[in-house]
Amino acid sequence: CGIIGYIGKRSTKEILLDSLELLEYRGYDSAGIALFPNGADEPTIRKIAGRVSNLREVCGDVTDEACAGIGHTRWATHGGVSDANAHPHHHGRVTLVHNGIIENYKELIKEYNLKDQLLSETDTEVAASVLDHFYDGDPETAIRETVKVLKGTFAFAILFSDQPGKIFAVRNVSPIVVAMTDHGALLASDVAALGVHAKEYAFLPEYHVACLSSKGIIVHDEKRHEVPLQLMTIDWDTSRGGKGGYPFYMEKEIHEQPDAIKDTVSPHIVNGKTSFAEEGIPDSLFRENQNIVVIACGTAMHAGLIGQQLFHTLANIHTDVAIASEFTYTNPVIKPGTLVIAVSQSGETIDTLEAIKFAKKKGAKVLSIVNVKGSTIADNSDYCIYTHAGPEIAVASTKAFTSQASVFYLLAIHAARLNGLLSTEEVAHYLDELNRIPEIITQILDKKSFIQKMTNKFLSHDQAFMIGRGLDYSLLLEGSLKLKEISYIHSEAYASGELKHGTIALITNGIPVVALVTQSALASKEYSNIREVQSRGASVLLITRQSLYKDMNIPEEDTFILPEMDDLFMTFPAAVVMQLIAYYTSSAKGYDVDKPRNLAKVVTVE
Ligand code: G6P
Repeated sequence: CGIIGYIGKRSTKEILLDSLELLEYRGYDSAGIALFPNGADEPTIRKIAGRVSNLREVCGDVTDEACAGIGHTRWATHGGVSDANAHPHHHGRVTLVHNGIIENYKELIKEYNLKDQLLSETDTEVAASVLDHFYDGDPETAIRETVKVLKGTFAFAILFSDQPGKIFAVRNVSPIVVAMTDHGALLASDVAALGVHAKEYAFLPEYHVACLSSKGIIVHDEKRHEVPLQLMTIDWDTSRGGKGGYPFYMEKEIHEQPDAIKDTVSPHIVNGKTSFAEEGIPDSLFRENQNIVVIACGTAMHAGLIGQQLFHTLANIHTDVAIASEFTYTNPVIKPGTLVIAVSQSGETIDTLEAIKFAKKKGAKVLSIVNVKGSTIADNSDYCIYTHAGPEIAVASTKAFTSQASVFYLLAIHAARLNGLLSTEEVAHYLDELNRIPEIITQILDKKSFIQKMTNKFLSHDQAFMIGRGLDYSLLLEGSLKLKEISYIHSEAYASGELKHGTIALITNGIPVVALVTQSALASKEYSNIREVQSRGASVLLITRQSLYKDMNIPEEDTFILPEMDDLFMTFPAAVVMQLIAYYTSSAKGYDVDKPRNLAKVVTVE
């Protein structure tokens, strides 16, 4: 879900609705705004289950002349999808929008005797009622009293009926960013919602109270002392927002990968050597830590699986990859000498954040790889390396994934170099390969219409398999997730040697099987596995390279030849092919590629 707030000279209504559209990518099922018409005693509220376009329709009669406003896109957690459950929620003199979950809302209903007053089934309305209970004309005191009794996570943007022209905000875990622009003050749940308006932004620290007014943005810490905003510059070209002529953000973001990788990699190659001096990462981090645990979710976790093989192959460092949401429950062994690497595009995924906090308590140093500057995960890490992918809007992650992977290549080469495991020539060779990636990806993009035709194979099936070994298997886990999340085809990536231990029972006539063969040492075994599925009737799509190509009686239109790179680097061209397969399958099926059902881009619930 998403939050926006605006006070300024432009039309509050338009800014709120436009920003809610920018927040659509996070996933939502209802939307609403509250704005304070000039001279009114109460905010006007419009909210509706459905899309922001539906909200826009019911806002037709809402005035453009307003002194402040807040807006929200809701992704239902407590209470179903309905107009009543949509935000903002209004109680007494309080109107607010909320991201997060108030865990003790049932206890609060009892304690403050709210049962008969509530109009919705949401935990948020309970918070609004409690805030109104504490409110006696001093917003900050009431906010502080309220957050003391709330358990859970929250980001609130609040209007008080007797404080027109002011928006208040407070948060715990769920993020809020604030920004001054030349026409007014904004707050939002993420930087993407600030759109073209802001050049700089600041994260609101937890339990600090922000007040936005025509005078600017004032932030008080827990002792009510004013604190300065820690401003960060928006370093991507905001004019390149929008879909840039592509039908979906996902396609645009796939095409942005050459730049994203170049911008991520180049700052770390200094005088022909890897360098993380800018981030203040000491060499000892990779000399003294001989155990690495990668924690992440979804696509970011798959980048970690590639990282694992690189640390093993190049740097001889034992590496585990943990699903962040499981990490804390598995009693992980964090001995001295363990480095935790957390990976997150948004920097806000709560599962990853909780795992970081747990690892730190156990004494681990945490290095994060994050795309959003200043985000909570970056803030909670000892060291942070930023990917420079720019804003990623499509729910299915593409350019963030390959950028995260490129950081793992840099780190593994760096660790190997520091530990004396690579010669100068080898370092130069690997860095040359890294520098070739943008050009190699461009070669794949030039053949996208061929890949589009290949996807016909999936259209009449509701399941698919993907097989490969080693790095190919790791990459297919990601390719399979992509296909599942946006085309709703159940796809299973399998280590091809493991097929015979069960899954092969599911391979029957005509089932599409993607076989990825890029690793020289594994190719002959992979081709045997391909023969196994062919003899059970599978319809194989072969993705390989010329040097490993073998005639398997697979039609030309079902074979894609990747450009040649060092074995270790074949993940990049293969990743882009897999992204395009998922993309074209989803769009051919007529789905909303960027906003797959039930999924959210930024997941701030556990
Ligand atoms: C959600 C998204 C995925 C993403 C995952 C981790 O599930 O739908 O695309 O990979 O979160 O997100 P993060 O922002 O931590 O990389």
